[in-house]
Amino acid sequence: MPLDIVVGTQWGDEGKGRFVDLLAAQVDYVARFNGGDNAGHTVSVGQQTFKLHLVPSGVIQPHTIGVIGNGVVVNPAVLLNEIEILADAGIHISPKRLRLSHAAHIISPAHLALDQAQETARGKTKIGTTLRGIGPAYTSKVSRQGLRLVDMLDLDKFKHAVQVHVKEINQQLTNLYQVEPLNPQIVSEELCHHASQISPYIADISALLSGALLSGRRVLAEGAQGTLLDLDHGTYPFVTSSNPTAGGALTGLGLGVGFTERVIGVTKSFQTRVGSGPFPTELEGNLAQRLRGTGENPWDEFGTTTGRPRRVGWLDLVLLRYAIRVNGLTELALTKLDILTGFDQIYICTGYRIGEQLINELPYGPSDLSGFEPIYEELSGWQEDVRSVRRWEDLPLSARAYILRIEELSSVPVRLISVGPEREQVVEIT
Ligand code: IMP
Repeated sequence: MPLDIVVGTQWGDEGKGRFVDLLAAQVDYVARFNGGDNAGHTVSVGQQTFKLHLVPSGVIQPHTIGVIGNGVVVNPAVLLNEIEILADAGIHISPKRLRLSHAAHIISPAHLALDQAQETARGKTKIGTTLRGIGPAYTSKVSRQGLRLVDMLDLDKFKHAVQVHVKEINQQLTNLYQVEPLNPQIVSEELCHHASQISPYIADISALLSGALLSGRRVLAEGAQGTLLDLDHGTYPFVTSSNPTAGGALTGLGLGVGFTERVIGVTKSFQTRVGSGPFPTELEGNLAQRLRGTGENPWDEFGTTTGRPRRVGWLDLVLLRYAIRVNGLTELALTKLDILTGFDQIYICTGYRIGEQLINELPYGPSDLSGFEPIYEELSGWQEDVRSVRRWEDLPLSARAYILRIEELSSVPVRLISVGPEREQVVEIT
């Protein structure tokens, strides 16, 4: 069955966008299934670099149809702005090229205000959210008070529903957080204005994609964020509010399990994280600086959405094995191998030590990693520039040894390796 799912195995920012862009060359539909504009996908094609947040990164391939599933939360203003930015870059998104699930929930300005108020109130224990209203929008969904895209099709009812929604969130803003309420009239006018532009894009995505798959079309499900940010399986409570794992692809698009063929786990060759929360292999100082870059290049380790410097560290195989399990990964796609060039030694975390105890598998998932000391395996680094390498056999011996060791420790094959930010800077292992 021709559904392939791409997920991140770490804390997001693995570089999924670049592989989605590559794999999209062979598919008909590219579908986002979770999250919202908290995601940031950077794709470089020739001289152009695209930073997308909501529109699936696969739409840069001109033959694909982009899809936003019911599992996504949509900020209409952000979506319309992104469509405009793409148009300026020569990529014209019309309802023929982008379909939005009727059941996707809306992020409103009230959700943004609440995200900000909640983070401020958390103080030192803040999650470090992207402040895009993600948590509050999913909270509205789960508490069955959310606004859905389908509601935009009846403007009179929608206008009223938005006003009720804003008044309800205003209660929280003023009573719980002592911040200024929003004007329900203004918010509803703004959202109704967007509704007229969004309405032509709305469709039944489950029916559309199931029909396409049954008639032999290929669909690529594009995950945002990563396994360790999964609401159920991540480093709770320092997680996002959706399910970026493979199961989330099926729920978030309304597809049956039987369609799935490949489940591709995108893994950065080292580990990064933005926001708060545990990170056992985190590095500081010079080593961290080298992995992070200076921020001059779009691919340096600074958040695409927030610009925050990312925390960086060595690859953690305990967490990778965990991601393989919860996603049922069939293969790995490794990014940024080129960044490891020039290190004399490279380290892989193979287990943890807590007191006298050695741990290879997390007892209760990755939520509480405090006190876990990484056990490292040391491997030789390489000095050769790998950016122009396109074949496995042309990679330096030590680079191959690093990848083979990852395969050995994870029991999953590495099928794709990126050696630079450009579309063609990939080594494919067949
Ligand atoms: P939220 O999704 O904005 O609520 O943020 C919750 C946590 O997920 C924070 O630690 C964010 O930094 C992190 N996060 C959300 N989206 C992304 C992403 O696309 N890449 C990396 N981290 C993310």
